[in-house]
Amino acid sequence: MTISQHSTLSAFAQDVVDGLSQSPRQLSSKWFYDDRGSELFKRIMASPEYYLTNAEAEIYRNAAASLLAHTGGQPFDLIELGAGDGTKTQLLIERFLAAGARFAYRPIDLSGRALSDLGKLIKLRWPKLDFNPIQADYFQALDRLGASTGSRLRLVLFPGANIGNFSPAEGVAMLQSVRKFLRPGDLLLTGFDLKKDPAVVLAAYNDAAGLTAAFNLNLLARINGELGGDFVLDCWRHWESYNPVSGAARSFLLPIKPQTVTLSKPGQTFRFRAWEPIEVEISQKYSLREIEGMADAAGYAFVHNYCDAREWFTDSLWRVPNP
Ligand code: AVI
Repeated sequence: MTISQHSTLSAFAQDVVDGLSQSPRQLSSKWFYDDRGSELFKRIMASPEYYLTNAEAEIYRNAAASLLAHTGGQPFDLIELGAGDGTKTQLLIERFLAAGARFAYRPIDLSGRALSDLGKLIKLRWPKLDFNPIQADYFQALDRLGASTGSRLRLVLFPGANIGNFSPAEGVAMLQSVRKFLRPGDLLLTGFDLKKDPAVVLAAYNDAAGLTAAFNLNLLARINGELGGDFVLDCWRHWESYNPVSGAARSFLLPIKPQTVTLSKPGQTFRFRAWEPIEVEISQKYSLREIEGMADAAGYAFVHNYCDAREWFTDSLWRVPNP
């Protein structure tokens, strides 16, 4: 496909066409979150196998006082990359407020709806809390914040193991880019899922109720709906793998028989052999040591790893050092 053809396609169409043209074929998990995908993800987070959410909630409950101590009692902006439904962050907010901290809550999200739902909830619970959301992508928002928050300290949250949906090298690059928008002394708290019993990891991405399978297959349904595709969903299977050495959990979609798929909007046809995989997601797991190394590689000073009691998950606190 040529560049001029590309410019007429939506970012989604372009990404799908590029990904399906590669070998091995790929689709990016960033497209999972249409309305149905977001709904399925909420159900995954509530499933018994998906331990990540409860582990991080436990950490937020226990780490609030220590986090506040690291702000040194100064007023600060609590900036959240990806607002989601904000449930876990409210655990921090209620503890910060009870301790008398002075801060503004500034969630960043692309979805105006997610931010306004969150705003309603926050206003109801804490009408006096300075709630100042930003509807933009992370980097645009951090750029705007740089100009608007004067010299206030920032505590940036990047929760939920979202960093795991990047490869380790991409993860370092992403956190390096975040640092460029921060000043010396600013703090970054990132959620990382930890390496553990492979059976526990595999179960989290292969839940008995089939929610993860439905979540992944929904991407093909989205392609059918938005790009005029004709994927026959019944002919595709979800497959999860976990490599305990690298820590990469990977999700694949595979056709049980040969398939010819046409996407009428971009006007492209793809031929799949039986069981020819499409790689759809990486959910990278780390060791505590690897995380300390990442802090260094991304240009931060490592401060502390807050873990849950089982050491299945960590929120790692890093500080932007003086130049
Ligand atoms: C959003 N992200 C951190 C989730 C994860 O664990 O990789 C997405 C997910 N995929 C399947 N289950 C959950």
